[in-house]
Amino acid sequence: MDCYGIMGYPVKHSVSPAMHNAAFKALGIEAVYAKFEVKPENVEIALKGAKALGIKGLNVTIPHKEEVLKFSKPDELTAKIGAANTLKIEEEILAYNTDAYGAIKALEKAGVGVSGKVALIVGAGGAARAIAFALVDRGATVVITNRTEQRGLKLTQDVRKYGNCVFVPINDLENVKFDILINATPVGMSGYMPGKLPVDERIVREGIVVFDTVYNPMETALIRLAKMRGCKVVYGIDMLVYQGAKSFEIWTGVTPPIDVMKKAALNALRG
Ligand SMILES: NC(=O)c1ccc[n+]([C@@H]2O[C@H](COP(=O)([O-])OP(=O)(O)OC[C@H]3O[C@@H](n4cnc5c(N)ncnc54)[C@H](OP(=O)(O)O)[C@@H]3O)[C@@H](O)[C@H]2O)c1
Repeated sequence: MDCYGIMGYPVKHSVSPAMHNAAFKALGIEAVYAKFEVKPENVEIALKGAKALGIKGLNVTIPHKEEVLKFSKPDELTAKIGAANTLKIEEEILAYNTDAYGAIKALEKAGVGVSGKVALIVGAGGAARAIAFALVDRGATVVITNRTEQRGLKLTQDVRKYGNCVFVPINDLENVKFDILINATPVGMSGYMPGKLPVDERIVREGIVVFDTVYNPMETALIRLAKMRGCKVVYGIDMLVYQGAKSFEIWTGVTPPIDVMKKAALNALRG
């Protein structure tokens, strides 16, 4: 039986095992996907161990997404982003960032093309990074805003090497024109800041596209407000499912059933 898993610290709330195990079952593939809690100082030894044990693939989550690149070979987009969430373990360890793919796929599923559009990303952490690089790669202009300006400016500088990207302080957004608003912060997340908006409510303008990467709850305060204002909405749960589906495909060469993975993720989130 092939073995896959997710390594992070902490990792106990991950819904990835539910998604992947449901897909293996639906496809009749004899494989198992487990959670591995790996302390930051143990990343290298964990990867050596995974290889020695014949583990075929790993998802990587906070705080290891950057560290794993020291021990693996990234594809072009992943190298630009500087963080990976998927490892395919062969003779070499190959690294991919399927968060970037998942975000674009979630937008596409909602009928949102990004080429030539202006996207405002709130946040400058791992998720914002992956989304910003994926967007400029597809011809969008990216506006970054972030609570900590220095971090936002650093991301802007990095992305600008590959496409159009500017930074705007979070309190100066009122006159900025954009087509797509993306929340890449945990603001609005259950157990962190439920019911809160990541930006001033005046920024959520009628007719724009609003994408909240937060997937728990699915209907965040931002999504509810966007719907009230007649905006097209894109759900974080779809990004989660598509990033998982892409990892699955990278490991097995098989396209998994999206509906099965989404149902399993939603069930796991309900606890
Ligand atoms: N749907 C998916 O598949 C998916 C995948 C990955 C992540 N996500 C979502 O994206 C969120 C961020 O993940 P990440 O990996 O990018 O985390 P991260 O690397 O820790 O970055 C967090 C970002 O959120 C900002 N932030 C945190 N708390 C804030 C607050 N109270 N007010 C304003 N800004 C705040 C941080 O700003 P500072 O720089 O000022 O600290 C930073 O820009 C997650 O919580 C999750 O909900 C979703």
